[in-house]
Amino acid sequence: MEQCMSEFRVDLMAGKVALVTGGGTGIGKVIARQLGLHGARVAICSRKLEVLEATAAELASEGIECIVFQADIRDIEAVERAVAGTLERWGALDILVNNAAGNFPARIEDLSYNAFKTVADIVLQGTFNVTKAVFTAIMKERGGAVINITAPFEHMGVSWQAHAAAAKSGVISFTRSAAAEWAGLGIRVNGIAPGEIGQTEGVDRLADTLTSETQVRRVGSPEDIANAVLFLASDAAAYISGVNLYVDGGSGVDMLKVPVYE
Ligand code: HXC
Repeated sequence: MEQCMSEFRVDLMAGKVALVTGGGTGIGKVIARQLGLHGARVAICSRKLEVLEATAAELASEGIECIVFQADIRDIEAVERAVAGTLERWGALDILVNNAAGNFPARIEDLSYNAFKTVADIVLQGTFNVTKAVFTAIMKERGGAVINITAPFEHMGVSWQAHAAAAKSGVISFTRSAAAEWAGLGIRVNGIAPGEIGQTEGVDRLADTLTSETQVRRVGSPEDIANAVLFLASDAAAYISGVNLYVDGGSGVDMLKVPVYE
């Protein structure tokens, strides 16, 4: 294994198996990589097999054990195949990261009925599909950690994002309900709400709707999100469940977004 530069112990995830949806690109890829660099074996899934394979090869070159599954999270059978395939290969699945999402900026009046449904199906229903499949196949019996990548939209309206904000808020609510229902089974369910994260498709897509006033603090990196995943997935967070952790440099609590100290 390559030298891992990290604030965490390099064997933090040793012996763990993780599944990262949307793990072929963007934040999901960095989450998969960081879990792997800290000793986890990592399964990644998404719709594009060639992208997954390229990512797996890249991770393998860093000494990470990674397997791939072509699965659209809206396709329940494909999801079940990915979960079963992971268990067949490694006999465990300790960490689920629901990272896959679909989004684009659009005004409500320009959203077709199918456009709204598509984002809800990917983000909310898809998160449910994978979580239920993993629960049924293994976590009900052995416990584990589920981490949902959410959004900091819980208490605010978001122009151009009515569809994504509604779906992500649903995921936050589902996170709490699952945390409550499964606490006695040793399953922790938490959310991570990324602020503005650079080098990602999501921010690229929304670039025209983000203004410089929202960028008072530095733009976050995918590693900032991966660090939060490492913490919430680890035993250091053994007493934490049902939270939606904002990883946004504090911008979510800043009403004015006017810099006081440069
Ligand atoms: C309006 C649009 C649109 C757009 C698609 N649609 N793009 N409507 N503005 N820019 C409409 C289509 O016309 C269609 O409706 C419906 O949405 C479904 O589109 P499809 O292309 O058929 O869907 P599909 O192939 O399933 O693709 C899903 C997708 C796509 C969400 C539209 O963009 C995708 O696959 N994205 C995955 C990657 C991604 O989005 N990553 C960024 C995540 S960022 P009609 O009526 O014509 O049939 C993120 C952050 C959230 O999640 C928080 C943000 C800050």
